[in-house]
Amino acid sequence: MRDALPQTIHLQDYKVSPFLIDKTDLVFDLGEDHSRVTATLSVRRNPDSDEPSADLVLHGSEGLDLQSVQVDGVNLKEGAYTRDSESLTISGLGDSATIITEVLIQPQLNTTMMGLYRSRTMYCTQCEAEGFRDITYYLDRPDVMSEFTSKVIADKVLYPVLLSNGNPIASGDLDGGRHFVTWHDPFKKPAYLFALVAGTLAVVEDSFTTMSGRDIKLQIFVEEKDLDKCDHAMLSLKNSMRWDEKTYGREYDLDIFMIVAVDDFNMGAMENKGLNIFNTSAVLANPKTTTDAAFQRVEGIVAHEYFHNWSGNRVTCRDWFQLSLKEGFTVYRDSQFSADMNSATVKRIEDATYLRTHQFAEDGGPMSHPVQPDSYMEINNFYTLTVYEKGAEVVGMYHSLLGDELFRKATDLYFDRHDGQAVTIEEFVKAMEDVSGRDFTQFRRWYKQSGTPHLKVSSHYDAADKTLTLDFAQSCPATPGQPQKQAFVVPVKLGLVGRSGDLPLNANGDTEMVYEVTETNQQLVIENIHEAPVPSLLRGLSAPVKLDYPYSSEQLAHLMANDSDGFNRWDAGQKLSFSLLEKLTDDSLHQRPLVMDKQLVDAYDSLLSDASLDPAMVDLMLQLPSEAQLHEEAHIIHVDAIHSARKFVRKALAETLSDKFLAVYQRHNIEQVYAPEAEQIGRRSLKNVALSYLMLIDNIGVDLAWKQFQSADNMTDKAAALSCLVNCPAAAVQSAAALAEFEEQYREEGLVMNLWLQIQAINSQSGGLKRVEALLEHSAFTMRNPNKIRSLIGAFCSANPVNFHSADGSGYQFLQEHILALHSQNPQVAARLVTPLTRWKKFPEPNRQQMRDALQRIADEPDLVKDIYEIATKSL
Ligand code: TRP
Ligand code: ZN
Repeated sequence: MRDALPQTIHLQDYKVSPFLIDKTDLVFDLGEDHSRVTATLSVRRNPDSDEPSADLVLHGSEGLDLQSVQVDGVNLKEGAYTRDSESLTISGLGDSATIITEVLIQPQLNTTMMGLYRSRTMYCTQCEAEGFRDITYYLDRPDVMSEFTSKVIADKVLYPVLLSNGNPIASGDLDGGRHFVTWHDPFKKPAYLFALVAGTLAVVEDSFTTMSGRDIKLQIFVEEKDLDKCDHAMLSLKNSMRWDEKTYGREYDLDIFMIVAVDDFNMGAMENKGLNIFNTSAVLANPKTTTDAAFQRVEGIVAHEYFHNWSGNRVTCRDWFQLSLKEGFTVYRDSQFSADMNSATVKRIEDATYLRTHQFAEDGGPMSHPVQPDSYMEINNFYTLTVYEKGAEVVGMYHSLLGDELFRKATDLYFDRHDGQAVTIEEFVKAMEDVSGRDFTQFRRWYKQSGTPHLKVSSHYDAADKTLTLDFAQSCPATPGQPQKQAFVVPVKLGLVGRSGDLPLNANGDTEMVYEVTETNQQLVIENIHEAPVPSLLRGLSAPVKLDYPYSSEQLAHLMANDSDGFNRWDAGQKLSFSLLEKLTDDSLHQRPLVMDKQLVDAYDSLLSDASLDPAMVDLMLQLPSEAQLHEEAHIIHVDAIHSARKFVRKALAETLSDKFLAVYQRHNIEQVYAPEAEQIGRRSLKNVALSYLMLIDNIGVDLAWKQFQSADNMTDKAAALSCLVNCPAAAVQSAAALAEFEEQYREEGLVMNLWLQIQAINSQSGGLKRVEALLEHSAFTMRNPNKIRSLIGAFCSANPVNFHSADGSGYQFLQEHILALHSQNPQVAARLVTPLTRWKKFPEPNRQQMRDALQRIADEPDLVKDIYEIATKSL
């Protein structure tokens, strides 16, 4: 709640902390009414500060009930220190001092899921970014790194397991049925990496021997009922540890690595030193209850948090403007890992699709910001697709510019040079420069300029000279606060595809090159090209830009069939279906008859007929661009026309190729022992895509889906069948029966019921809002759990466009009311729900005005939390 307008924090105002904290000793006495936190801080003046007599200003939230303050053993009287809603100020300190504060907090009443809070029967913490100040008074900034010792005291029956960072150094029983465990973390860390857990938890144990032969104890703590869902996370953890040794030379440092699964959590997971805390949805997995997609998500998030031990914890951020230093780099590392564990091309296609759909939309919207933002009101609003995913793309560009060997040299240099430090993105760039001798001055614009660059390319083939000329023109649209942009360094990975495959680009016979576009306009001439080729550009999406090349449909069909690059074969198919969908959307809007395109039918036909192709690739190629992606690319979003056009194409394909879809369905509908590995995942996914097409033809699909629903032995097939039935107008009876049966069977499985909610939330048949409103009353739903809010309200508003954008504006009203119902309870989760409304400028009337009004009503709320205030005011 705010008493004044929220302050904007600027990167350029950064100053080192006047004080450092060498040692931090914490005692947590956990109680049911209140908990007592005693903090002993060994502070000293920072020699690098230019304010040698500054006061000590400790961060601390309103909720801290201060009991006492001691300086060097002397109790300060009230008046000897000052306090406001955000801080505790002590003046007149010498060069060093021991400060002891004692506060009471009430974690059982904390609904924000920041700081210390309760989830079901346990206590847990979330301190990133600025949650530690909700626990005790502290210098809660990432450049203040300290050695932590934490003693946790609690009732022994209710909280037998007491955890914190590092290694346990003492434990024992106390009076009144209480006990304690003391933990010590030898590595200095900022407060955002602190963690504490207390509860009745079961544990799965394993071990890992590091490359230097040290034995590490691995533990995953869960509720007893979830013990059968830990194997996949444990395997993913061991794979991650091995992979980081092999790929980056990074070894684990402590003797224990712990993961705790928590049901109520604002994000996916958190990399607290030695004690990662995970949303149950990001760690638990079992074939009976978990889909393939969720299995892969668990693998990716376990890896991500583990990799943070080096990219984030050993080398951390100086301030929160540097967030992408750890997040962009770590996302890059976890996507490399997933690519190595599964199929690299499939992973790249998934990442590129995600970036193009969601990050490009963010880049083009009112919250557009650079990878390194230069200001914010609420840092929690900057854990964004731009910081994470675009940040990862920027790291990937170094890799392609430097090559494997130099890139590894650069990361080694970065880790070695800055181990134990809190640094800036600049240090990362310097490491890249120092090993390569390159000057990345211009490249640094990727961190400072927001918006998605456009790269327009045209080509000319001179048959007489045997030369191909490629003309490149780059531009970047204006974004908030940045009307003009300077040219980026755009690495363009390219090849030239001739009649029967890739043509050599030089005398060495190379068929691929990385060409750097650095000017606004630039020309590349390639000699000795003996036939007119089709350029295959931006392979693997080698830069986070939008490519514009005037391909004919014949050329795209040629690339689809002949490009040596799997990513660009897929991308050619996407471009082909995209241009058809764009045209049909326009036809639908103007009530012209919709006509299917033969080229696309033929392309699908050959994909479905060729049993030698990789099923995972066929699966991806059969998926039309999503509605969300079509929205991103549209100038004005005509929701219904886009929906109709896409439905028309799907139905036309299904009708023309029904035999082929059926054959594919049968070929891949095989009995096998379930394993969440790439080959099987590809086949299941292809089968289920075929099923979704078959649902569009009268009679065939419903029976198949019903049978699959009944006989599936794994959640991937079961949920896919359920979703097919739910979305099929001809399957009303079967759909109701399946939903009821599913509910009966999985009533006790919270995460499975979230999937049940989500499948219904994104049912695109009319009446969506009524169904969602009914589900809000269902016992499987509660506004107290972020996963459930995201599964029902979040999914409806972001993935059910025809219903959310219904002409009467009811979807907007619904979202607005729920945001305001949630905002003070959980600002972070509420703020993320606002996103769909912020895109109002892209919609036609009356939606545009209705969305804007809903946003205005949110902004007008008195006492709006600053998380939402920032988004609402920047979007209006
Ligand atoms: N650092 C976490 C990650 O990316 C992100 C995170 C987890 C987070 N919980 C949070 C960020 C709460 C802000 C608030 O792995
Ligand atoms: Zn992260």
